Amino acid sequence: MYDSRMSDAWTHETERYRYANREDIPAFAELLSDPEVGRWLWFTPMSLDAVREYFGPLLDRQAKERAAGETPRTAVFTVEALNGEFLGHGAVVGVEASPNGYEIGFQLMRKAWGRGVGTRLGQFLCAYAIELCDAYRIEGGCLEGNTGSATLLQKLGLQLEGTRPGYRLKAGVRHTELCFGSEVHRLDTAALRRVADATGLSSQ
Ligand SMILES: CC(C)(COP(=O)(O)OP(=O)(O)OC[C@H]1O[C@@H](n2cnc3c(N)ncnc32)[C@H](O)[C@@H]1OP(=O)(O)O)[C@@H](O)C(=O)NCCC(=O)NCCS
Repeated sequence: MYDSRMSDAWTHETERYRYANREDIPAFAELLSDPEVGRWLWFTPMSLDAVREYFGPLLDRQAKERAAGETPRTAVFTVEALNGEFLGHGAVVGVEASPNGYEIGFQLMRKAWGRGVGTRLGQFLCAYAIELCDAYRIEGGCLEGNTGSATLLQKLGLQLEGTRPGYRLKAGVRHTELCFGSEVHRLDTAALRRVADATGLSSQ
């Protein structure tokens, strides 16, 4: 049954996050076609068809779960400025075989970099995982060399838990993956609770 307490969108200072839908796919494709955005993403470049093929089923399942009043197991969010300008996307993904384990991920348009959009988005994703998914662990990964992502994941309180040498292949080159993570109780849960309160996540 549809739960009217389930919100579709949350505002965090200067950005809004809303559940993504199929209409966002062209903007996702534009984002992922920027070589600077994709520089450290093992799954780019991605054609519009590939973006549709990957995100389409995820977004359909998300819509179905939400229509049933459920919290999506994989939640994909569109990030917008308050005037509706597309800034990027983020996701909270249930980790296979890790009970209450969630992975966070984010990609932002180049024009949005360097002004805290990523930090606020990361805080929102962690707060969402804790408040709505009852996360026990939160993790995130990036390729070695992706200084922006590694800095952000650590700023969120995730620790470097390990490396996977040669785990990813991008344009014929093997890359090491850095694995960051933390049990939720080791994070700054008071700060994340404030984010949940400010965005309205905690009242859902
Ligand atoms: C990673 C990304 C989301 C960061 O977003 P952002 O809005 O620029 O991040 P913020 O402005 O909140 O910065 C967060 C911290 O990282 C640091 N940082 C960001 N980009 C950096 C870079 N390229 N090099 C070094 N530090 C960087 C900032 O200085 C800040 O640290 P501080 O608060 O100690 O100063 C953004 O650069 C991006 O979308 N990159 C391309 C896609 C990608 O790699 N996504 C991650 C996939 S694993």
